[in-house]
Amino acid sequence: MAIGRASPLLRPARPEIPVLRPPRDMPRRRNFGAPAGRVALLHALAHIELNAIDLAWDLVARFGDSGLPRAFFDDWLGVAAEEAEHFALLASRLDTLGSAYGALPAHDGLWEAAAATAHDLIARLAIVPLVLEARGLDVTPEMILRLERAGDCASAAILARIYRDEIGHVAVGLRWFDRLCHERGLDPEAAFHDRVRRYFSGALKPPFNREARDQAGLPAAYYEPLGATSPAHSQGSPHPNPPPQAEEGAVPSPLNIPPSLAGEGGTHAVRRGRVGA
Ligand SMILES: [Fe+2]
Ligand SMILES: [Fe+2]
Repeated sequence: MAIGRASPLLRPARPEIPVLRPPRDMPRRRNFGAPAGRVALLHALAHIELNAIDLAWDLVARFGDSGLPRAFFDDWLGVAAEEAEHFALLASRLDTLGSAYGALPAHDGLWEAAAATAHDLIARLAIVPLVLEARGLDVTPEMILRLERAGDCASAAILARIYRDEIGHVAVGLRWFDRLCHERGLDPEAAFHDRVRRYFSGALKPPFNREARDQAGLPAAYYEPLGATSPAHSQGSPHPNPPPQAEEGAVPSPLNIPPSLAGEGGTHAVRRGRVGA
């Protein structure tokens, strides 16, 4: 199949439900021990995965005329397919638990990372896979443990599957980020710091899951200097273009999960909002 040209939409099509609300209006549910708490978690994750599908396809549609090789599109189609599997697994689990995707409200901050970086592929790759999806790697193990502790091993197994796939998504993002930087004569580490400071409001939230990030090949020199406790960040700096970001918890995905659901962790996110898939 040939790679064509497309006019990407400003926003992806969305079903009538779930109702989309500002992140601050989302209910706060932290109790994974109660069925309603787990349903809220899985619903939020399903919403993140739906956005992750769109984010992968947006890369294909938006940057299709950028002279990129076929392998770029093949990689992101593969990611989109896995995100679709993640959504289907979570939607099916919600059905099993007597709920459904759309039964609860969802936040409307997930597309902000795409909008903020629509003009700059290097920025998109820095923010979505290398910040938001990497954030998912940090917070997902704790969520799996909490689900297992609550006796919901079926949901935990789905998150474990997603976690493994997301390591691959970060690896794909890093491969293309580094390659594009080298082709454009940019130092990848410096370019990453620059794009995150410009398009991601605030510091990255430790602790970082070094083991999973290493598996994805993501060097600590990329993210550690941007961590909330690093000297560079304690000095503070204005962020003229703050994108949405995850607060104190996140879910596994390229976007971020509502802090209300993520407990101490976090997943795919642009900070202070939520993202993470
Ligand atoms: Fe992903
Ligand atoms: Fe995902």
